[in-house]
Amino acid sequence: MDEARDLQAEFNRSIARDDLAALWVARRGVDLTKPRSEAKAKVWRYADVYPHIAEAGTLVTAEDAFRRVIVLANPAFGGELRATNTLYAGLQLVLPGEIAPCHRHTQTAIRFVIEGEGAYTSVDGERTRLHPGDFVVTPSWSWHDHGNEGDGPVVWLDCLDTPLVDFLDTAFRETYPDMTYPVLRPEDDAQARYGANMLPVGYRSSRQVSPVMNYAYKPARAAIERLARTSPPDPCDGTRMRYSDPASGGWPTPTMGAFLQHLPKGFSGAECRVTDGTIYVAVEGRGRTIIGDEAFDWGPRDVFVVPGWLPYRHETNEDAILFSLSDRPVQQLLGLWRQDRITA
Ligand SMILES: [Fe+2]
Repeated sequence: MDEARDLQAEFNRSIARDDLAALWVARRGVDLTKPRSEAKAKVWRYADVYPHIAEAGTLVTAEDAFRRVIVLANPAFGGELRATNTLYAGLQLVLPGEIAPCHRHTQTAIRFVIEGEGAYTSVDGERTRLHPGDFVVTPSWSWHDHGNEGDGPVVWLDCLDTPLVDFLDTAFRETYPDMTYPVLRPEDDAQARYGANMLPVGYRSSRQVSPVMNYAYKPARAAIERLARTSPPDPCDGTRMRYSDPASGGWPTPTMGAFLQHLPKGFSGAECRVTDGTIYVAVEGRGRTIIGDEAFDWGPRDVFVVPGWLPYRHETNEDAILFSLSDRPVQQLLGLWRQDRITA
């Protein structure tokens, strides 16, 4: 018996020298029946993070930093720039008068405005003004720069599919020779063309991304509030809507889906789990989310992560609105996405 074990151990060492491994050894004792996300549940409270963002504003200019971002680095990944397995998230500060220089990359970005007025972002020659609660889509390989023409600081949450793009070895990046890209179209041209439940006649999408550049908070919030008044909430997620590409009905981007949800005061949600690890922003109201066996309190501007397939349930003290993002478009495209309602 010992001899057989020794022979197997020697065999394993021998094949390892040739960069080989025995599957039956590597998988021994591993639970393969369900995913076990490496990501950890985590809340970043804005009151804790903002002083660091403000201090960064005194240490480095937006131009020198290129992007003055405090990254929300999930502690599970040892300092890697990842909030979930597949998504990067960071809080970007743009001070009055600053410009964040123009570049482009193959990673897709969604920027959700946390606070401040007067900032704009420019994507491929079109500018849009940003207001708290809006989010802007920056498609893969589109030139973009940002600026703040207001009187106070502006902070938004940058979410990018960087870990996913890195995993696929498809990360490319270019810096534009000038600080800003030329303005080629009227401000909010996309809003006029695609943002009012209409499309230009003959419009054909040329890429897998929504033509809507700025998904404004005000109409989304009004819709979700009206629905919350007239329809019973989902036991897990309250009144939750997904943002869509008006041309295809699909997601705003091919890699990241976005959601807005209303949880009524006193909501005590059922326990659920989904395979897409999700980044939440508490936009309005206060509550807590129990993730696994730990409770995470949240309030306005806090960001928290629910890892994939970890049970979660929401509770609220007051009416609350949550914005969220995940890689659900990818999982659904590949036929992998699952949801499980543990209690009803
Ligand atoms: Fe960028």
